[in-house]
Amino acid sequence: MTTLAGKVAVVTGAGRGIGAAIAKALAAAGATVACASRSVAEVEATAQRVRDAGGRAIARRCDVGDASDVAALYEAVAAQEGGFDLLFANAGVSLDQRPVGASDPAAFEETFRVNLFGVYHCARLAIPHMRARGGGRMVVTGSGMGHSSLHGHAAYSASKAGVWMLVRILADELRADGITVNELVPGPVRTAMTGVPQREGSVVNNPIEWLKQPEDVVPLAMFLATHPGPGPTGQSFSLMRRTF
Ligand SMILES: NC(=O)c1ccc[n+]([C@@H]2O[C@H](COP(=O)([O-])OP(=O)(O)OC[C@H]3O[C@@H](n4cnc5c(N)ncnc54)[C@H](OP(=O)(O)O)[C@@H]3O)[C@@H](O)[C@H]2O)c1
Repeated sequence: MTTLAGKVAVVTGAGRGIGAAIAKALAAAGATVACASRSVAEVEATAQRVRDAGGRAIARRCDVGDASDVAALYEAVAAQEGGFDLLFANAGVSLDQRPVGASDPAAFEETFRVNLFGVYHCARLAIPHMRARGGGRMVVTGSGMGHSSLHGHAAYSASKAGVWMLVRILADELRADGITVNELVPGPVRTAMTGVPQREGSVVNNPIEWLKQPEDVVPLAMFLATHPGPGPTGQSFSLMRRTF
């Protein structure tokens, strides 16, 4: 039977949506889960749901775009749990759906700060912790929009395209350490992020796409967390129906 008993996982963006679903599933499989986001009340609620179901969870406020916040999160997890084995770098934002010519530079920068620099800080600072454990698994939530262009989503798509490449470079750099790094591409999922009115042509409105609930992402996340052996690295795993 597949189990994560004895494993410790950090999940960013665990307060709601895809991250909350993944955190609950990891805990149900036996992992201790550190749930992080900027909204303390939301991560506390996820952690409480884990505990109510008999699992183990920590809740921490953390802005992934702030390296000192990420370092403090990891230090707290290491102090309480002795380290961690799994990182789901899942936190992300989509802030501006206007064409580049009409876009807000501050929103563009903030999107990169969270989506790309956030993954960079989370991955970079996780390396010594995972090396100390003799290996680990990093799973980064990417997007199909980082693989193919969609009018009006420049900041989001370009930041996720950066994530796509960062995953590949990290995988190459960390292969010898027994640390795998893969991209999980969820495709459209009903969450707070996609609850906002969508532009025509959005993947959320695309009739050929599978519009999911956050729990529908769990089987792929669990595969990436639990597969035996050294497993894949530097790969993108997609739940989309479109090719990219
Ligand atoms: N929903 C989709 O259709 C879809 C499709 C492809 C990819 N994705 C990706 O999936 C991931 C999760 O998105 P979701 O749809 O579940 O969105 P969501 O429901 O809005 O959840 C996003 C989570 O990220 C957290 N977050 C945002 N900025 C943060 C920051 N600076 N530091 C720490 N946490 C932060 C949010 O909490 P706070 O705001 O409280 O910090 C929240 O917990 C994102 O990376 C997104 O790009 C989503």
